[in-house]
Amino acid sequence: YNIHHFNEELVTWFNREKRDLPWRHEKNPYRVWVSEVMLQQTRVDTVIPYYNRFMERFPTLEDLAAADTDEVVKYWEGLGYYSRVRNLHEAVKEVASVYEGIVPEEKERFEKLKGVGPYTTGAVLSIAYNQPEPAVDGNVMRVMSRQFGIYDDIALPKTRKIFEQVVRRLMDPTHASDFNEGVMELGATVCTPKNPMCSLCPVQDTCYAYAHHVQDELPVKTKK
Ligand code: ADE
Repeated sequence: YNIHHFNEELVTWFNREKRDLPWRHEKNPYRVWVSEVMLQQTRVDTVIPYYNRFMERFPTLEDLAAADTDEVVKYWEGLGYYSRVRNLHEAVKEVASVYEGIVPEEKERFEKLKGVGPYTTGAVLSIAYNQPEPAVDGNVMRVMSRQFGIYDDIALPKTRKIFEQVVRRLMDPTHASDFNEGVMELGATVCTPKNPMCSLCPVQDTCYAYAHHVQDELPVKTKK
C-alpha cells in the first residue's frame, strides 16, 4: 500500500475541489476553533449562517472573551448543545487572560481548556497550525474504514483510538491541515454514508471497499 500515493491524490483533490466555506477564508486559530465546535453538532449548511453572524459580532477572540455569556449563547440559539458554547466561552476567556489571546499551539495546553476533547484538539492543531495530529470524526472513520477495510465497530468509544493510529501512520506530516480537512471533505461530499460517488473519488484505486463492493457494509456501526 502506497501512503505517498494516498496523500498526493487526497491533497491535490482537496485543493482543487474544496467547497468555498466561510471558515476557509482568513483562516486563523480562533476562526478554526469556533467552526469546528459548531460543526461537531451540526451540518455544514446549517452552520454557515450561524458562523457568519457569530464572526460578525465576535470577529476576534478578544471580542468573544469580552462578551457576556448570555449574549454569546443567543448567537448559538438554534444550534443546540448549549453546553458547548458555554464551554467555548469559558475556554476563550482563559486563552485571553492566561495566554494573551493566543490559542496555545502546545497540545498539553490546548487540550486542557474547557470543553476541548480529542477531536477539537486535533482539528485546531492540524487545521490552524499544520501539526500532524489526527482529527477523527464520523467522516474520517467512514473514509478510513472503507479505504482499508477496517471492521471495528465505530459505535464503541475505543474505536476512535484505532482510527487515530491509522491516521498517524498515514498522514504526510508536512500537509497535516490539508490531509485532515481533505479526509473530512471527502467524507462529506463523495464518500457519503449512502450511495457514495466512487467514480469521483481520488483514492478509489486503492480503496478496499470499492474493490470488494462492500461500501454499504462499512463502517460497521452496531448500536444507536
Ligand atoms: N466537518 C468538520 N470540520 C469540517 C471542516 N473543516 N470542513 C468541512 N466539514 C467539516
